[in-house]
Amino acid sequence: MFVKDESARMGLPAFKVLGASWAVHQVLSRRPPGDEVVLVTATDGNHGRAVARMARLFGQRARVFVPSGVHPTAVAAIAAEGAEVTEVTGTYDEAVRRAAEAADKPGATLVQDAGWPGYEQVPGWIVEGYSTLFAEIDAQLSKAEAAEPGLVVLPAGVGSLAQAGVTHYRSRPDSRTTALLTVEPGTAACVLASLVRGELGTISTSETIMAGLNCGTPSMLAWPYLRDGLDAAVAITDADSATAARDLAAYGIPAGPCGGASLAGARAALTGEDAEVRREAVAIGPDTTVVLLSTEGAAANPVPVRQRDSSSQEGQRPLARPGGYGTGDARRVRSKSPSDAPGPGTAMTERASRGSPHCEHVGTAVTMCPHAVCLVSTGGPPGAAH
Ligand SMILES: Cc1ncc(COP(=O)(O)O)c(C=O)c1O
Repeated sequence: MFVKDESARMGLPAFKVLGASWAVHQVLSRRPPGDEVVLVTATDGNHGRAVARMARLFGQRARVFVPSGVHPTAVAAIAAEGAEVTEVTGTYDEAVRRAAEAADKPGATLVQDAGWPGYEQVPGWIVEGYSTLFAEIDAQLSKAEAAEPGLVVLPAGVGSLAQAGVTHYRSRPDSRTTALLTVEPGTAACVLASLVRGELGTISTSETIMAGLNCGTPSMLAWPYLRDGLDAAVAITDADSATAARDLAAYGIPAGPCGGASLAGARAALTGEDAEVRREAVAIGPDTTVVLLSTEGAAANPVPVRQRDSSSQEGQRPLARPGGYGTGDARRVRSKSPSDAPGPGTAMTERASRGSPHCEHVGTAVTMCPHAVCLVSTGGPPGAAH
């Protein structure tokens, strides 16, 4: 098991600047030299800070809309980049609406990491920027002489990062070798809910410590990629993410709650009751290389100290700490069978074949009883996702 540690990316504690830097460069290079523009965006933390940082580096202004529930540290970090921050009493979707409205005037432009009809170019650049992360994983696994990943676990908010993952892994000749699993908070599992419904939809959300994943509507640009390219989706609790973040910290990986989500999602999907069936659905065996994306560091979005730690619950035990791992970005943390990993993994159902909308336990999973899991296997024949 490898962890792609995004706690220090271009001077910021999350991967998001990979997308923001490329998109802001593209936006500015299409404007007359010396032109001044306000870069406007909505964020649940990391993307807004990245846009604000790029605006500052390019000598431009940034205006950032932040929904309720974003950690004050994250809000302060955006303001510290010199951005004008507007706190919106409402959800992430509402903050996006306000940002789009504010950007719809001369001298302003929207740099949003989700797309909708008529707004595709900028989120497309953002997804292109994220592709760096997957190219690095290829290079780092090859350097570590590890096999191609059999499973990559992707925390999902609007699904643009997952779109980049689908584009990367499904564009290969052996495009179904790598199973792709998204992980979302149970309180904001919009990708999972849309997969289950078989169509893109909006869900109501509530607060989660995984602020970066607190989105109610998948990106419309991402949706066809998610629908056709993902193998599975899982929803987890805040307590599971907090436990996983602490376990990763014990390995020297300073994961924030969204970073911990990948480990928590892998545990939920691959362990616990009926785990064999789920592992078979995504073709995971004892020798499979698993890559977890730890998409943010604890500095981006601290794990609340009072958050209940699910490892104290029955049936759970912490990962044993191995010694002597390297300090590269992609860290090998485990090489044993996934059956050794701890985790609850309860309610589960599968779609035997692509296109079947049936998912028995979805109501439970999406509304979230503790540790509920819904794993939707979209399976399907090999083929590129384009
Ligand atoms: C730390 C972190 N991880 C993952 C994501 C999910 O990315 P996406 O919204 O593209 O699904 C985000 C989004 O803001 C994030 O901040």
